[in-house]
Amino acid sequence: MADRDYVEIRPARIDDLAAIFHLGERVFTAQRFTNLYRTWDEYEVTWLFNSDPELILVAEADDQVVGFAMGTTIEKSRTAWNYGHLLWLGVAPGYARMGIGSMLFDRFRAVVEELGVRIMLVDTQADNEPAIAFFRRKGFGNPTDHVYLTLNLEKYD
Ligand SMILES: CC(C)(COP(=O)(O)OP(=O)(O)OC[C@H]1O[C@@H](n2cnc3c(N)ncnc32)[C@H](O)[C@@H]1OP(=O)(O)O)[C@@H](O)C(=O)NCCC(=O)NCCS
Repeated sequence: MADRDYVEIRPARIDDLAAIFHLGERVFTAQRFTNLYRTWDEYEVTWLFNSDPELILVAEADDQVVGFAMGTTIEKSRTAWNYGHLLWLGVAPGYARMGIGSMLFDRFRAVVEELGVRIMLVDTQADNEPAIAFFRRKGFGNPTDHVYLTLNLEKYD
């Protein structure tokens, strides 16, 4: 087991993408922690690597990827505020509660601050209590409800 002193946080390289994807399959299972507008798949990893490569970070320990943080920045027109959206944060279960999520978050925050971000956004499902506890610990507040509605377009003639 890695001591946190031996955990390296670094920008992802192309060779890390498969490991990130497979780790995501373990931590973002279909039933837990994904939502209707974003589901974990290969495209999440490849489009972010193409669009915001500096905003994909990995935690490496024991010669493997044991965690990652991925996100993007959003510029709102007609306002000077830039948002940094942390889209995906995952730590391998065997490495939980060692501070690795926290190290990834702190580095992600530093990178987006360098890019001029003044507000960070995160989101997760309302029943993801570990993540909510984690984000509260990192200083997040003001949770806002978001309601999904559905319309069934099947025709029953
Ligand atoms: C959320 C997640 C990234 C946290 O990673 P981690 O490396 O275990 O977190 P850390 O060790 O840095 O925890 C920092 C603090 O967050 C809080 N925290 C973390 N996990 C927690 C849990 N399961 N229950 C309660 N609080 C928790 C604690 O305050 C913790 O500090 P402490 O250990 O000193 O008490 C990890 O649990 C995970 O990958 N979850 C599944 C994916 C997910 O939900 N991602 C977030 C939405 S994209």
